Formats: sequence, C-alpha cells, structure tokens
Amino acid sequence: MKCCSQCDGIERLFNESTARKELEDYRQKGPSKTTRILIDTLKANGIQNMSLIDIGGGVGAIQHELLQAGAQNATNVDASTAYITAARKEAERLGQIDRVTYHHGNFVALAPEIEPADIVTLDRVICCYPDMEALVGLSSSRARQFYGVVFPRDVWWMKLARPVLNGLFWIQRNPFRFFVHPTVAIESVISANGLKRYFHRNSGVWQVIVYARIS
Ligand SMILES: C[S@@+](CC[C@H](N)C(=O)[O-])C[C@H]1O[C@@H](n2cnc3c(N)ncnc32)[C@H](O)[C@@H]1O
Repeated sequence: MKCCSQCDGIERLFNESTARKELEDYRQKGPSKTTRILIDTLKANGIQNMSLIDIGGGVGAIQHELLQAGAQNATNVDASTAYITAARKEAERLGQIDRVTYHHGNFVALAPEIEPADIVTLDRVICCYPDMEALVGLSSSRARQFYGVVFPRDVWWMKLARPVLNGLFWIQRNPFRFFVHPTVAIESVISANGLKRYFHRNSGVWQVIVYARIS
C-alpha cells in the first residue's frame, strides 16, 4: 500500500476510543459544524435516489444523513478499522445497513474496484494523505454530479501549525502526518476532471467546497 506508514498512523490515531467518543458525540449533537454545512449544501441540490461514495467518512455522519434524506445507497471507504466498525454499527441502528457497502483501506489503492457515484465526499481527509494528486484525482474522477470536500485553509497560521502538530505525532511515535496542500493545486486537479466550484465557505481552520460536473 502506497501510504504504508501513513496508513499505520491512521489506524493508531483514529482508533477504537476515538471512534467510540465520536459516535457518542454524533448521536448526541449530530454532525460537526463543517460536516453540517457540507450536508446541507448537498441536500439543497436535491439528492433523491442519488448514490454516494464517502471516503474517510469516520463514524459516517454524511452517509447517515444523506441516506435519511433520500439518497439511494452509499459506499464507505475508510483506512481506519475502528471508524468502519463504528459507521456500520450506526447504520445498523438506523436501519440503513442494506444500503451501505464498506471497503476498508486506502482509497488510492482501492479506487480501481470503486464504481463512480453521483456524489463523492471527502470530509477532512485530504489533509491526512501525502499524495494529494492521486487521492483527489482518483476520487473526483468518480463523481458523476457533485464533489464535496472539507480541507484546511492554506493560510500562513495553518502552515505554521502543521510542523507543531507533526512534532507532537513524532513525540508520540505515531507515523501519522498532517498536510496542508495548497488550495490552488487541489482545485487544478478537480477542474482537470471536469468539475466546477459552486459553493465555498470558510469556518475556523476549515474550508467547505462543493463542485458540480460541467455537462
Ligand atoms: C480526520 S478523520 C475525518 C472523519 C470524518 N470524515 C469527519 O470529518 O469527522 C479522517 C478520516 O479519513 C480516513 N482516511 C484518511 N486517508 C484515507 C485514505 N487514503 N483512504 C481512505 N480513508 C482515509 C481516516 O481513516 C479517517 O476516517
């Protein structure tokens, strides 16, 4: 697997106790602020009977909310064993389990076996992966209609925060590293795949962007 040490780091960072806590939070409070912005923007387009690929979906907030709002089915691809287990547990509780397909692993490696879908989402995932061109290129090429992403703003203070955060991972001996890929580079990969930005909002350290396929 191309991201070998990063994927080991992901398993350690997004572990059982993080997944348990995030699932509890989701059950009590619903999706986090930026996830909610992404979900509401997609819902405003009308997502009835659409298919979804949610990459790095965590405990599955986007999948659960869009399926509840009328999406037909979802494919969940996640490199964390604990998150896949938590997302599945919640889908079972919500009666959605027959509409979700689960793939555990690195999306970049699994991409050849993932069919395109109407909507593709990566919520706070691009910052977890070193090879942005591969992750964004392969995922945006699978979006038939909408591509929704949440990733860090590439402002100077985020660029300063990055080595500090990565230093903490280094001290913890976790090979996981955090990335602030330049927005302009991300968007050039997305537009090369025929998608155009139609929604953008900054919220704290994150930016939420939705693209639509140009017909
Ligand atoms: C910061 S968490 C975000 C979880 C959720 N989307 C949210 O916003 O709460 C990052 C997620 O991306 C997953 N991830 C990171 N890189 C990935 C990759 N290359 N393929 C699949 N999943 C990946 C991690 O396992 C984790 O579930």
